[in-house]
Amino acid sequence: MIQGGSRLRNLLQSLRPASFPSKLANYRGYTAPPASSLQLATQPSAYSDDKYADVDWDKLGFGLTPTDYMYVMRCSKDEDFKEGRLNRYANLEISPSAGVLNYGQGIYEGTKANRAEDGRILLFRPEQNATRMKRGAERMLMPSPSIQQFVDAVKETVYANKRWIPPPGKGSLYVRPLLLGTGPILGLAPSPEYTFIVYASPVRNYFKEGTAPLNLYIDEEFVRASPGGAGGVKTITNYAPVLQAIARAKERGFSDVLYLDAVNRKYLEEVSSCNIFIVKGNHISTPAASGTILEGVTRRSILEIARDHGYQVEERAIPVDDLVGADEVFCTGTAVGVAPVGSITHQNRRIEFKTEGSLVCKELYSTLVGLQTGRVEDKKGWTVVIH
Ligand SMILES: Cc1ncc(COP(=O)(O)O)c(C=O)c1O
Repeated sequence: MIQGGSRLRNLLQSLRPASFPSKLANYRGYTAPPASSLQLATQPSAYSDDKYADVDWDKLGFGLTPTDYMYVMRCSKDEDFKEGRLNRYANLEISPSAGVLNYGQGIYEGTKANRAEDGRILLFRPEQNATRMKRGAERMLMPSPSIQQFVDAVKETVYANKRWIPPPGKGSLYVRPLLLGTGPILGLAPSPEYTFIVYASPVRNYFKEGTAPLNLYIDEEFVRASPGGAGGVKTITNYAPVLQAIARAKERGFSDVLYLDAVNRKYLEEVSSCNIFIVKGNHISTPAASGTILEGVTRRSILEIARDHGYQVEERAIPVDDLVGADEVFCTGTAVGVAPVGSITHQNRRIEFKTEGSLVCKELYSTLVGLQTGRVEDKKGWTVVIH
């Protein structure tokens, strides 16, 4: 846990305008930012002691709602990250020759904070995101925050933006850690400086379908990742190339694209921002992670929950033909949750799956959401409570 309670309290007592959040000052796990980073002159009207921000929670989708604070930590190429701080949420000033702008040296993460019925604020397995960012940073030749630094930064960001966490049942605070090569570089080489940022936005359903079943499209032209590439890490460079495939699928009335492997064009990989599972009887399968798909935190959690529920669980190469005869198909991800798939269209053939009645995916999701929102007792140590 981070220290600094009394230091922070003293600092805030001396600097605090009437409406500065007194609860922030009581947060034990909070490191005092220097006065300059708080930019107090500009913030009183934006911040209040109210429990909730002024948001129409029933209209929340997956758009950006800027919140009050973001966490920022910097280091140079040959150093480790040392100390970060909360700043007001604001634009970044960045060199036009920054490594991230010119060569895409950047990684992102996504995790959520939920408000439990009893008022607790819960994070879900943030150390898994921290570990994945570390792995990705190694692949992209970047320094990365330690697991502890990452988790502490997420906690601080969530606590400082507490009033933006939706009421129970109305959504989550989506937390977006970013690691960027922000130093100037002209020739193709690692950036000389790096910035780690965490910002947050309240969100609800990712897909416009809401909780209705998704209709996926297998695009034969585009692949998402190939062996030896960086498909297994969450580099920002994996995402712009799928925009065209998604746009084309949406124009045709589909929800998203299901990608096949780049070598055989035969095995299922994943959807643009989520993993895929198929259910047949008591068997649940998902494509094995062999470097071309992102190993989702939700995927890993659902695999474990499914085993706990008595299903036969398999990570394997899944030929597209296995979709025929599958009972259910569903997608998993932090943003999407567990989303049932109603149909997958491949080579002008529409394959349909069960979406009504008692569904395996609903059963598993109910346990997952129960853990994430504190309704199900966490015997796995997956949730982190922010005090
Ligand atoms: C390509 C891709 N696959 C899968 C996932 C799901 O991962 P997670 O469950 O960790 O959110 C994501 C989202 O982060 C993603 O971008």
